[in-house]
Amino acid sequence: MEFVFSLDTIRQIAAEFWKAVGAYRVFAFHGEMGAGKTTFIHALCDIKGVSSVVGSPTFSLVNEYSFQSGLIQNDIYHIDLYRVKDEEEAIQAGIEDCIYSGSYCFVEWPEKAPDLFPDDTVHVYISAVDAGMRGLKLLFPEGNL
Ligand SMILES: Nc1ncnc2c1ncn2[C@@H]1O[C@H](COP(=O)(O)OP(=O)(O)OP(=O)(O)O)[C@@H](O)[C@H]1O
Ligand SMILES: [Mg+2]
Repeated sequence: MEFVFSLDTIRQIAAEFWKAVGAYRVFAFHGEMGAGKTTFIHALCDIKGVSSVVGSPTFSLVNEYSFQSGLIQNDIYHIDLYRVKDEEEAIQAGIEDCIYSGSYCFVEWPEKAPDLFPDDTVHVYISAVDAGMRGLKLLFPEGNL
């Protein structure tokens, strides 16, 4: 599954993303610095009307958001592994607990600890197409694009 979007259309693409999510919970966001990983993850959260934010990017690798769907409260962990050195450090920071919690996990810089991710991780690739345009590719575990 592939999309091209600008900041003007990011909400529409974020909505398409949620439609494609199905039962998947762990998403590894690949892409260079400034590609737009954080911006897209924020769009994903905004669309769900996230009601609370726990944690600060300055002090922690994990931001926790939550949103209500019907009677169910859903959590989203937004994790940025940029600052971790290796898998060991990621485990010490409690990242494994998030990844195996059953909650939504959106992880930037998954390359820092690739072995931490379960087989049913969805890999997301974001890249700059040109100024303001970004490409997003979703790679589901079965290999469907
Ligand atoms: N279509 C777009 N989608 C997302 N970001 C865009 C788009 N067009 C322009 N931008 C800009 O590109 C920048 C993306 O920054 P962002 O912090 O999201 O990148 P990142 O991939 O999370 O980088 P890092 O690896 O440093 O965390 C922002 O300044 C944003 O305004
Ligand atoms: Mg980022």
